[in-house]
Amino acid sequence: MQETKVAVIGLGKAGLPLAAVIADSGFEVIGIDLDPKKCEKINSGINPIPEEIGLDELVEEHGGKNLKAYPDYEKARDCQAYIIIVPLYIDETNNPDFSILESACRNVGRLIKKGDLISVETTLPPLTMEKLVKKWIEEESGMKLGEFYLAYSPERIMTGYSISRLREFPKIVGGVDEESGKRGFEFYKKFVPNLNLVSNARTAEFIKVIEGCYRDVNVALANELYKIAEELGIDFYEAREFANHEYCHIHLPSTGVGGHCIPVYPWFLIKEMEKREKFEHARLLRTARELNDEMIHYWAARIISECLNIKKPLSDVKICIKGISFRDGVKELYHSRNLALAEYLKAKGLNVFVYDELFSKEEIEDLGFNYDEPEKADVVFHSYDLRIERKD
Ligand SMILES: NC(=O)c1ccc[n+]([C@@H]2O[C@H](COP(=O)([O-])OP(=O)(O)OC[C@H]3O[C@@H](n4cnc5c(N)ncnc54)[C@H](O)[C@@H]3O)[C@@H](O)[C@H]2O)c1
Repeated sequence: MQETKVAVIGLGKAGLPLAAVIADSGFEVIGIDLDPKKCEKINSGINPIPEEIGLDELVEEHGGKNLKAYPDYEKARDCQAYIIIVPLYIDETNNPDFSILESACRNVGRLIKKGDLISVETTLPPLTMEKLVKKWIEEESGMKLGEFYLAYSPERIMTGYSISRLREFPKIVGGVDEESGKRGFEFYKKFVPNLNLVSNARTAEFIKVIEGCYRDVNVALANELYKIAEELGIDFYEAREFANHEYCHIHLPSTGVGGHCIPVYPWFLIKEMEKREKFEHARLLRTARELNDEMIHYWAARIISECLNIKKPLSDVKICIKGISFRDGVKELYHSRNLALAEYLKAKGLNVFVYDELFSKEEIEDLGFNYDEPEKADVVFHSYDLRIERKD
């Protein structure tokens, strides 16, 4: 067993796989999560995120043994390393809402002792570590940075494949000061095979955010090129296949970009530049965000134009949106553009119902939609492969 006892704060889709992998590397791990039922399950060896490949086995092997979960922060008092991986959302104005992160950091600040290491893995707007996290921990602990160490190492998993990503994907770490960077590196090196130390925490924060920005902008480009190809009578997918090569990576078109990550991260930079009145620095990021969000209007128009070919009054044409998750195979509705498309058509007074293999009839009805089999529809929109099927 490794000497360092590790606390992982937040046992969600990102935190639990991380805690399990650390436990599997021979550490004693204390997981803290506000959800007592989730903690109970983990302690009984039951994986609360069954869709995560390889996690069942790890939770069964370590849960309740060298991975123990509690809703009470006090249980993590004798740890030497604290990893914080709680969510950070944006509010209605697209500004980051730091309340959950602040609460987790202040709780950890009350536990730490001289020499402890705190690492945050939540994706953050650059400079959050040095401006906010450091202040919260210092205020609660009564210590100054240098008495404790503060590093940032963004989580770079992909839901569903977290275990393999944690074991194989390059990880980065940066310190709020030089010594914190070194300590962070030494700590992660014990269980991360492919680790890189970068100059500082703000660089590490930026690296994670710009990965998301790259994806968002490139999806916006794919969406724009898709619309142009359709207009010109060109098969976009054929064109894309032959256009892509070593230096050209045209992404896939979609109904927009959903989930907790990619549609959120560009706002971290857009809003920071707005605060500094450097509006022109983030023009492309903002345009890409708008373009992706507006894709539901494009698809709504295409669906309606298909409905107009059916010999029934428009309001009687049954439309099925098949697939409402933000991504195929992931049961997650946060910022789902497929759900937004269904809502948009419904608000237009159209006869829409929803079908999704991952959701029960009750779950779909709780979202305010009718549920039925796609076979019952006149027009089916297959959200994930952007196919409109008309049944005359
Ligand atoms: N899920 C991903 O694919 C992914 C990928 C990369 C990075 N991340 C990062 O990880 C962060 C967390 O994402 P997630 O998908 O695990 O979220 P999640 O919603 O699945 O889980 C969050 C967990 O944190 C717990 N929690 C909330 N407030 C808490 C508090 N104050 N103290 C302790 N526990 C608390 C919740 O009960 C929940 O179990 C994201 O904000 C993102 O920055 C996630």
